[in-house]
Parts: sequence; C-alpha cells; structure tokens
Amino acid sequence: MTIHDHILTENDFVKQDTLKYPFEERGLQFGDGIYEVIRVYNGNYYLIDEHIDRLYRSAAAVKIDVPYKKEDMYERLDDLLQKNGIDGDAKVYLQITRGSAPRDHAFPDQTQANLYAYVKDLPRPDTFLRDGVSAITHEDVRWDWCYIKSLNLLPNVLAKQTAKEHGCYEAILHKNGEVTECSSSNVYFVRQGKVYTHPAKKNILHGCVRMRVEAFCKRENIDFIEEAFQVEDLAYADELFLSSSTSEIMPILRVDGQTIGDGRPGALTRKLQKCYEADAHINEEDSIFTSQTAAE
Ligand code: PDD
Repeated sequence: MTIHDHILTENDFVKQDTLKYPFEERGLQFGDGIYEVIRVYNGNYYLIDEHIDRLYRSAAAVKIDVPYKKEDMYERLDDLLQKNGIDGDAKVYLQITRGSAPRDHAFPDQTQANLYAYVKDLPRPDTFLRDGVSAITHEDVRWDWCYIKSLNLLPNVLAKQTAKEHGCYEAILHKNGEVTECSSSNVYFVRQGKVYTHPAKKNILHGCVRMRVEAFCKRENIDFIEEAFQVEDLAYADELFLSSSTSEIMPILRVDGQTIGDGRPGALTRKLQKCYEADAHINEEDSIFTSQTAAE
C-alpha cells in the first residue's frame, strides 16, 4: 500500500519526496515525540474526537507544544483526506516530535515541534476478524507511563516480533503475571457473560476503541469490569478479544498454543463486532457478517 502524496507538516502540506529532516531530530535520536493512528472508513474519520483529545493529552504529558490549535488540527486532518482524494478505507499516521536540535538530552531552548501526518490505504482485516487470531504471553517491560502514546516503542516492537516468530498475531503483555494490554492493542477476558479488562490507569494506553467497547457493553447490558486478570486466568476464559484502531474488535482463539473456550469466536465478541460495524458506519457489503460467517 502506498502512502498518498500530500503530507501534512507543522507548517503546511508538502509533497512526500520533499519531506526532509536532519539527523539531529529529537524523534529520531530520543524517540522524543508522540503519535496517533486514526482509522478512516469510506473517506470519513472514525473516533476523531477521541484521537485528537488523546494527542493533546500525550503532548501535554511530555511538554510538547502542538503546532496547531485543536480546531485547526481538525481542519488540517480533514484537508489531508481531501487533498489525497481519500474515499475508501485508510489510516492516518500523525507524529509530533520536540523538533530538530543539536543532540542533548535536556530540551533545546528554542525549537519548534516537527509534525507530519500521512494517509495510507488500509482494508479491514476481514479474515482475522472472522476467523480469530493466536497470541503469545510476554513480559511487559515498558515504563510506567504507557497512557502516553509515545514514540518509544522498542519493548512493543520486540514483543510483537516474538509473537510473529511464534506464528502469532499479538503478544499479551503481563507484569508479574497481571495482564496489562497487548503490544499494539487492548485485551479483554470474557467469563460468564462479563467482560474484564485492565483499568485505564497510567500503565496502559487508553484505547479509543476500548472506550467504545465500554460504551457498547453498557448499551447491551454487558458487565464491563475494569479489573486486571492474570495470565493463569486465561485458561478459564470463555472468550478473549483485543481491540485497536487497525485491528478493530478481534477474537483471540489460542494463547501460547492453548485453545480459548471452544476454539471459535464467541457470541459476546461477535455482538461487540456488530456494534463496532454499526458505530463505524461500515457498509453492508463490507461487513464481516457475510455468508461466510453466517455459515459458522
Ligand atoms: N496502536 N495499546 C497499545 C499499546 C497500542 O499501541 C494501541 C494502538 C492500543 C489501541 O488504541 P486505539 O484503540 O486507540 O487504536 C492499545 C496503534 C493502532 C498503533 O500503534 O499502530
């Protein structure tokens, strides 16, 4: 999938091949920056308010001045889709760093933040959404402030790579046996019709889709319990699923080679996937609930 040509920067739009940063750039050298990944369906942003709010919260937490006021950010992000003629399913990656400056750990005295945002086509992961995925468990060695969507992703990258080497989609992270989230998604445990997930404390990312999962559960009278579960509890899960802007709500059917529940996507996960499709205004022809799923 190619990146569409018009890139939003801290000043204005530029063509992709003119985007240049010096080596002494705080994001490159220190991971000194923050980012967002925003889903687009049929040319429209999904959960844009949640993403923009979190972007400004992350920026404030690491003392980076966002180059645009919030109202302007909405406008610029809309322009990004317009300029690139996006009318299908895509994702926007937006990153803001503290800027370019001679390398020194302390903040530079005078630097303007560097911002870029690009858009890339992204079909829905239909097969995984229908058939479910496998995961491994992995120690969570990240810092304590994972609620900040920071560029420092090395522990996440290493965990995801280990999952990949085991033929798995995700790594379920745990601190001393307590499940926090996955390497790039939130994770949920279902038992006796109740959904359990780690509380939205500082040590997990407060996922935008997670907020919707909570809202769907409330609406459907499903108990949504913000209580951390243990790795050893996984053996007793009726269902397990993960959520993120790119993975949506995805069933997990095996963990460390052990089958979860009856080894098929569960009814509660399916219900939440339906809620998601309705909420994101997915067209009927793009729904995962086609004949293939109905035949299950
Ligand atoms: N990841 N937890 C982590 C560690 C994440 O990186 C993500 C998102 C989530 C889910 O957040 P949301 O529902 O707002 O997408 C949870 C994005 C997709 C990424 O880094 O590519």
